[in-house]
Amino acid sequence: MRIAMIGSGYVGLVSGACFAQFGHDVFCVDKDADKIARLRRGEIPIYEPGLDRLVADNVRAGRLEFGTSLADAVGNADAVFIAVGTPTRRGDGYADLTYVYAAAAEIAKAITGYTVVVTKSTVPVGTGREVARIIREAQPSGQFDVASNPEFLREGAAIEDFMKPDRVVIGVESERARDVMAAIYRPLNLIQTPMVFTNIETAEITKYAGNAFLATKITFINEIADLCEKVGADVHDVARGIGLDGRIGRKFLHPGPGFGGSCFPKDTLAFAHTGREVGAAQTIVEQVIEVNNARKKKMARKVIDFCGGSVAGLTVGVLGLTFKPNTDDMRDAPSLDIVPALQAAGAKIVAFDPEGMTEAAKLLSGVTFAKTAYEAATQADVLVVITEWHEFRGLDPRRIKEAMRQPRIVDLRNIFDPEEMRGLGFSYEGVGRPR
Ligand code: UGA
Repeated sequence: MRIAMIGSGYVGLVSGACFAQFGHDVFCVDKDADKIARLRRGEIPIYEPGLDRLVADNVRAGRLEFGTSLADAVGNADAVFIAVGTPTRRGDGYADLTYVYAAAAEIAKAITGYTVVVTKSTVPVGTGREVARIIREAQPSGQFDVASNPEFLREGAAIEDFMKPDRVVIGVESERARDVMAAIYRPLNLIQTPMVFTNIETAEITKYAGNAFLATKITFINEIADLCEKVGADVHDVARGIGLDGRIGRKFLHPGPGFGGSCFPKDTLAFAHTGREVGAAQTIVEQVIEVNNARKKKMARKVIDFCGGSVAGLTVGVLGLTFKPNTDDMRDAPSLDIVPALQAAGAKIVAFDPEGMTEAAKLLSGVTFAKTAYEAATQADVLVVITEWHEFRGLDPRRIKEAMRQPRIVDLRNIFDPEEMRGLGFSYEGVGRPR
């Protein structure tokens, strides 16, 4: 199959490289000439484990190329994937579809033979139909179908998620489009991946419903964590106790400072907006958004209370700034609420993050960035863990204790063993665990 990927951002680049690995010929396009030049030189503009190698291998094999001309890519493609950004629109929380519709209009001009135009970007229900309308208007006799093929990649595990997905969801409207999509994903038949074929609206809703459900699950366990703290229970045992019920499942029951990232906050907002718009308010999702936003703000209060009601004049060492580990992504990261709130309360912040500091420096002011986790702990009055980078789990607590002015830790990701830390002389507080 010949595939054109419109948009070489996170989803486009990962999907394009993975489709090439499946054996297809993939042409990734982006309007950003600088980005394309870098990709051609083998530089990967995002941090995603394994992606550099995958891109290099497939470029070398002649299956993956990059360019700025959408017409070149679309001209002889069997399928065109729209993987452009859908940021949150200012003011109303709706997904901004400007780039999607602009891509559709350009694709319309470039289509030659029968082509399946697939939305891979996360788009609100109704977008696929509008894409079809735009193309039909520009090319009344054009041979095409539209399809919806939402992405379920987690940053940091994107390649694994693409190559070994739990399922693939495909919204199509004709046998012909279904056949093209089935051929594209054929390699996944070998590992018996369930293919869920639906209509276009269903596929669009499935993506949002999935993310909204996961966001709800996290928010639920976070509230249970608050309750546990009040009554001396341990949220991890509760999560295990309920998660072993197959109907609930163990994943996504890890408590923390609230979900962030480029997907859950944006998608829950857009989903709630759609619900209101069509007269089927998603009140649970609306509550999840509100509770999660409040939680991120509450985390600074938790640190201040732990320090006896004030952090004025104190040095707070921060471990982890990104919204989760294995990424340099700072979008909607809880640190963006926690750090400024601690600064406003008079604290000096010394932070370390293995990948996120360049990005964080653009978004946070007045922060001193350390070169290592130990340096961030040096002379700190309290250490706050915001992101659970694997390397933090391997830190030597004794060395941390020696470096700190006062051995105090607020562990917002529960990466340390409370008993061990207290045994070593730390004053320690996690999330949802007995104090
Ligand atoms: C999420 C979904 O997991 C993917 O399936 C989906 O494809 C993607 O959004 C998307 O829509 O593109 P991602 O945002 O990369 O992926 O990251 P997650 O691993 O889901 O984490 C999201 C946030 O939830 C993070 O801030 C994380 O710390 C938090 N989280 C996750 C918890 O606080 N507790 C958990 O148990 C799990």
